[in-house]
Amino acid sequence: MWSCLFKFILLTSIGSSIIHGVEEVVPDTLENSIKQGLEGYLNNEKSPAELNQTIRDLQRLNLFRTKDKSLSKASCTACKAGLDVLINARRKGVEKEKFLDVLTKLCAWLKLESEPVCHATVALHIDSLAYIVDNKKDLTSKRVCSIILQEHGCEDPDRKNWTIDIPASKEKPLYVRKECSKSKSLKILQLTDIHYDPGYEAGSNGACQSAVCCQNGSKPSQPENAAGYWSDYRFCDTPWYMITNSIDHILTHHTDLNYIYFTGDILYHKVWDTSIPGNTQIIRDVLQEFKKLFGTTPIYPTLGNHESHPVNLFSTEGVDEPQLSTQWLYDLAAEEWKTWLPIETRETILKGGFYTTLIKPGFRIISLNSNVCYTYNWWLLYDDVDPYGQLQWLVKVLLDAEENNEVVHIISHVPNGDDNCLHNWSREYSKIINRFAHMIAAQFTGHTHHDETLIFFNISNPSQAINVAYNGGSLTTWAHVNPNYKIYEIDSESAEVLDYETWIFNVTDANLSPNISPNWYKLYSFKDAYGVDNLCPHELARLTERMAKTPSLTQLYFRYKYKEADTMLARGCNNQCEIDNLCRMVISYSECTQQCETLKEIYNFARH
Ligand SMILES: *[C@@H]1O[C@H](CO)[C@@H](O)[C@H](O)[C@H]1NC(C)=O
Ligand SMILES: *[C@@H]1O[C@H](CO)[C@@H](O)[C@H](O)[C@H]1NC(C)=O
Ligand SMILES: *[C@@H]1O[C@H](CO)[C@@H](O)[C@H](O)[C@H]1NC(C)=O
Ligand SMILES: *[C@@H]1O[C@H](CO)[C@@H](O)[C@H](O)[C@H]1NC(C)=O
Ligand SMILES: *[C@@H]1O[C@H](CO)[C@@H](O)[C@H](O)[C@H]1NC(C)=O
Ligand SMILES: *[C@@H]1O[C@H](CO)[C@@H](O)[C@H](O)[C@H]1NC(C)=O
Ligand SMILES: [Zn+2]
Ligand SMILES: [Zn+2]
Repeated sequence: MWSCLFKFILLTSIGSSIIHGVEEVVPDTLENSIKQGLEGYLNNEKSPAELNQTIRDLQRLNLFRTKDKSLSKASCTACKAGLDVLINARRKGVEKEKFLDVLTKLCAWLKLESEPVCHATVALHIDSLAYIVDNKKDLTSKRVCSIILQEHGCEDPDRKNWTIDIPASKEKPLYVRKECSKSKSLKILQLTDIHYDPGYEAGSNGACQSAVCCQNGSKPSQPENAAGYWSDYRFCDTPWYMITNSIDHILTHHTDLNYIYFTGDILYHKVWDTSIPGNTQIIRDVLQEFKKLFGTTPIYPTLGNHESHPVNLFSTEGVDEPQLSTQWLYDLAAEEWKTWLPIETRETILKGGFYTTLIKPGFRIISLNSNVCYTYNWWLLYDDVDPYGQLQWLVKVLLDAEENNEVVHIISHVPNGDDNCLHNWSREYSKIINRFAHMIAAQFTGHTHHDETLIFFNISNPSQAINVAYNGGSLTTWAHVNPNYKIYEIDSESAEVLDYETWIFNVTDANLSPNISPNWYKLYSFKDAYGVDNLCPHELARLTERMAKTPSLTQLYFRYKYKEADTMLARGCNNQCEIDNLCRMVISYSECTQQCETLKEIYNFARH
């Protein structure tokens, strides 16, 4: 969320939705004011007070009205205007410090964070940004806007519309996907989005003005602002004892786990306070605890976007500057993960944090580093074509698996349907899922902190559901969710998901009794809760249609998505929220919207 604000400091504040409300009035004037205000300040011709005036003009115009697509054209124009100024200034030799200064001022004066936090965050990102502008000689504002504001459809005709080479299906796939049927089953635990914060302190200020509260040493202004002992619904991460309590609970209540999928995000949300040694320590501490407590149960990990330093940045292959390169993280992953993974996985982990291995004969796992597609990964501005050759590698792994009659699970952090996953990447990923749907039994993701399900549809036959990605939710309560983990029951032959359970505790309730362990309980099992016979893609697609017609089902999905968090239940879910939740289930990439439209029609017909 904060990185989202960060994007807007860099861009939106300089353009984008600012234009909103002024369109009828004086768009050119505003654009000029942005240009002159920024340019003047960067060239030392204007005073801080004049820059401040520009910012205040912008502020009055309803900043941060994002989702509104009607603003798209204005957003792109303004984004371009602001970035032209910044890129040109850098090309003309304006010092890094000046950008640090201007971006910090924008951030602080827009009250996104306190000045020191703004300064620290911008300072962490400025070197990578400067490197990209300095070394990518043909970088244009159009290019930047087409990536970071892709949800507004900003265009760059010069950007490469890249594709992956995907050999066509053989006439009859060797492996014919079985109908989901129960023979012998395996249990898989999915844990995700821990966001461990060593600075968490019960009783500290849980209602601060920052992106992360509940910090040691801070004092609540009123008693109800005090941070809870067992974490907090507000913008707070996870204390150590909550992590160990969760694992203890898992171990006592699920003694028959075969495997564990860990889908990333170990680090806290204090994105201004990361460092290579600091992140390394936290990642080691958590993975050590996994090794100690889970013992010999195999864990298949992925990297989260928060593991990197600076947050979200996964450097382009060949960028070797130690202070910019992500190599330290891949080295660390190779070292820490070797407890669970065979040596053959090392090469690709070192290259880009992804790997494949057999879980058992005939059953393969593929762990992707989907963080590279995240549009906050500035390295996409440098080179967005299939970072690390990962998708091309994925095709090769799947072709081999097809040859060998294997079934596959894919785990990754950022889900494909995310509007902030680069559309070209997610389109190619969807094509790969389409091509190999007959042998990909399921996908597992994290990142959103929501307990949700994403259905993939056939690109050539958009009403046919072909695959499913399960999101694991989060152990962190950040923000307005209860902590959870999931237990999947899968068929030991076909690796199809037969059912799953979500387990949570009620944070409000747990905090009433700090001295006793939270009361973990099974929130639901999928088949029972939704009344389905199985979790095959077509059955789930039918379920979304039933949901569209049935208010009680949509409300149930909302309740479970946020894991029954009291603050979300109090907020409730209106029609727009219900429709958004439904569409989230069926848009596996940006252009695949037909099923969403169908659901809207069903919804509107049934509810009016
Ligand atoms: C900038 O404007 C804000 C009001 O929006 C004011 O509080 C602040 O003191 C101003 N800073 C400078 C340096 O002018
Ligand atoms: C980009 O490539 C895809 C796949 O080849 C194609 O469907 C799409 O129309 C292309 N888009 C543009 C803008 O060229
Ligand atoms: C892929 O990139 C090209 C070039 O920027 C763009 O025109 C196209 O819309 C993108 N495709 C998708 C699915 O976003
Ligand atoms: C808060 O906790 C962190 C992490 O344990 C520690 O480094 C820091 O010194 C603590 N700060 C205060 C004010 O206690
Ligand atoms: C998708 O639809 C096409 C055209 O109907 C079909 O040939 C293909 O087998 C379908 N894909 C899957 C995974 O079922
Ligand atoms: C959570 O616990 C609190 C306190 O016991 C209770 O008031 C609330 O209803 C519970 N929430 C749910 C969803 O059960
Ligand atoms: Zn997360
Ligand atoms: Zn994440």
